[in-house]
Amino acid sequence: LRVVVLVSGGGTNLQAIIDAIAAGKVKNAQIVGVISNNKTVKSLERARNAGIPAVCVSPKDYESREVFNEALLAKVKEFAPDLIVLAGFLVKIPEAMVHEYSNRIINIHPSLIPSFCGVGYYGLHVHEKALERGVKVTGATVHFVNEGMDEGPIIAQKAVAVEDDDTPETLQRRVMEQAEWLLLPKAVDDIANGRICVVNGKVKHTNSE
Ligand code: GRF
Repeated sequence: LRVVVLVSGGGTNLQAIIDAIAAGKVKNAQIVGVISNNKTVKSLERARNAGIPAVCVSPKDYESREVFNEALLAKVKEFAPDLIVLAGFLVKIPEAMVHEYSNRIINIHPSLIPSFCGVGYYGLHVHEKALERGVKVTGATVHFVNEGMDEGPIIAQKAVAVEDDDTPETLQRRVMEQAEWLLLPKAVDDIANGRICVVNGKVKHTNSE
């Protein structure tokens, strides 16, 4: 399975996939390209260190969002992916790309969707809102990307306990370590090995072990 990973920041989720493939935990998948919307991020370095072609397609380099959207889709198509993984990618995916890669784009979101998701719920803000609400359990969700924001069919979720003395930073770290970095590689492996299908907008895990 040819996988392209889109990133915006530190790339720890990208790294989790790179490491899982190297460790043989994810089979029949290879990351053929990494695209960031930000020139100066660690995630591009992580890709290059792993020998993966890494490019930046930044909205700042285009005169309009529409032209950026076309450039992003063109760059993605150059890698001829079977699967696109949004790993901390903070730019809304163009409609044309959602349609071109229907049910072939997945995203990792740091909450148990439908809680704490949608416009404005990204990065630390997600954990700030969870702590503000006083939830005792949060977690992460991997889902297929559709036209909405964090609204596509849910593939997998993993719960993480919230501790009384958590700060947004300590909670984010725990959600990454105990949920995101496990769920995303597992989803890539399940898709690469034909264990997932979408029926009536719901994800079915076939021949689950
Ligand atoms: C983090 O907030 C993570 O929860 C979310 O995207 C952000 C950056 O992750 N998935 P990464 O370290 O760039 O993968």
